[in-house]
Amino acid sequence: GPAGLGNEIVGVVNKLQDVFTSIGSSASQIDLPQICVLGSQSSGKSSVLENIVGRDFLPRGTGIVTRRPLVLQLINRTAGTPQANGSAQINATDKATDKHANADEWGEFLHLPGEKFYDFNKIREEIVRDTEAKTGKNAGISPQPINLRIFSPNVLTLTLVDLPGLTKVPVGDQPRDIEKQIRDMLLKYISKPACIILAVTAANTDLANSDGLKMAREVDPEGTRTIGVLTKVDLMDKGTDVVDILAGRIIPLRLGYVPVVNRGQRDIENNKPISHALEHEREYFENHASYKGKSQFCGTPFLARKLNMILMHHIRATLPDIKSRITSQLQKYNAELLTLGGPTGDGNSGNIVLSVITEFTSEFRTTIDGNTNDLSLNE
Ligand code: GDP
Ligand code: NA
Ligand code: MG
Repeated sequence: GPAGLGNEIVGVVNKLQDVFTSIGSSASQIDLPQICVLGSQSSGKSSVLENIVGRDFLPRGTGIVTRRPLVLQLINRTAGTPQANGSAQINATDKATDKHANADEWGEFLHLPGEKFYDFNKIREEIVRDTEAKTGKNAGISPQPINLRIFSPNVLTLTLVDLPGLTKVPVGDQPRDIEKQIRDMLLKYISKPACIILAVTAANTDLANSDGLKMAREVDPEGTRTIGVLTKVDLMDKGTDVVDILAGRIIPLRLGYVPVVNRGQRDIENNKPISHALEHEREYFENHASYKGKSQFCGTPFLARKLNMILMHHIRATLPDIKSRITSQLQKYNAELLTLGGPTGDGNSGNIVLSVITEFTSEFRTTIDGNTNDLSLNE
C-alpha cells in the first residue's frame, strides 16, 4: 500500500543521510528532507519529539538541556521482520532497568556502530554522556550533531532533528554571543529548502512574540514548509483557548497549527509513562469545551500523521533534485579517481566513498524508477 511505499523511500533517504554524514564533506552539498524543531528554550520541543516517538528517551526539562543537534531517524519496522545484522536480543541489565524494554524497539547511534540500545533510559544516558564529552558539563553548546536511529513497529518513518532552543542571556560556560551562536546553528538546518520546520510555541505565551515563528518566517516567508505546534495548552488561563490561532485568525500558517499537551515537569519527575500522557492528551481534547468538536485535529497522533504526509510530499518534490546532485557528485568522484589511477585501485579512500555512493545510488534508483508513476516525480 501507499504507506509501505512511503517507508521504503524514506528508508533509502535515511541510508543516504548516514552515508553523507560519514563522509562529511558531501553532506553539505546534498540536502535530504528532514523535520526540525524550532522554538524558544523550554517551549517543549524535546517533549513534542518524545511524544511523536512514543518513548521516553530525550534529556529534557527546565533550562538549556538540548545542547547539540540530535538527528533522529525513526524507522518503522514491522514486528517480526528479520533484521539485517542478526537477531534482536535484550540483555539482562536492560530488562532489569527498563520495564518497557521490548525486543521490537531499539536505538542505534552512528558513533557507536553495531551497538543496539533496547533500554531507552540508556539512550538518554548516552545522549547526555556524548553531549558532555563534546561540550562540557556547564551549559556549553556545539553544532556537532548526534545521530540516532530508532527502530520500532510503533513509529511512522520520519527523520526529526531536535535542536537547542533560542535563548538570549548566556549562562554557565556559554559565550557572550550565545544568542547569535544558536541562531547560526539553527539557520544551518532550517534554511535548507528540504527542511520542514516544526515551529514550537508555548500556548501560554503570546504568539506574536514567538521566536520560533519569527525565525521560521525569515527562512520560509511563504510558509510552505512551516507547521505551527502549540504546546502547554493545558497551562493556559481558564477561559482562554487557541481556537483563534487554529482558525488562522492570529498569524495564519499555510500548513496550519496543531495543539498538543505534553507531560509537565512534575509528570517527568514522577516518571509518568508516555502512554499515559498520550491517553491524558486525548481525553483533554475530547472533553474540553473549546476543542471537543475538532479533537481529531488536535494532539500528538494527528501531528505525527500530518508530518508523515507532509514529509512524503516533500520527498517526492525534492527527489529529482537530490538525484541530479548525486549524479553530479558521482561524476566528480569518477573524475577524481581517474586522476588517482582509476577505480580499480587498492582501497584508497576515494574508492571507498565511490563504492558506497554507487551502492546507495543504485538502490535509490531502483526504488525511485520502479515507482515513478506512483510518485509523480515530474509533477
Ligand atoms: P525544550 O527546551 O523546548 O526542549 O523543552 P522541554 O521539552 O525540555 O520542556 C521544558 C519544560 O516544559 C519541561 O519541564 C516540560 O515538562 C514542560 N512542558 C513541555 N510541554 C508541556 C505541556 O504541553 N504541558 C505542560 N504542562 N508542561 C510542558
Ligand atoms: Na529545556
Ligand atoms: Mg530540548
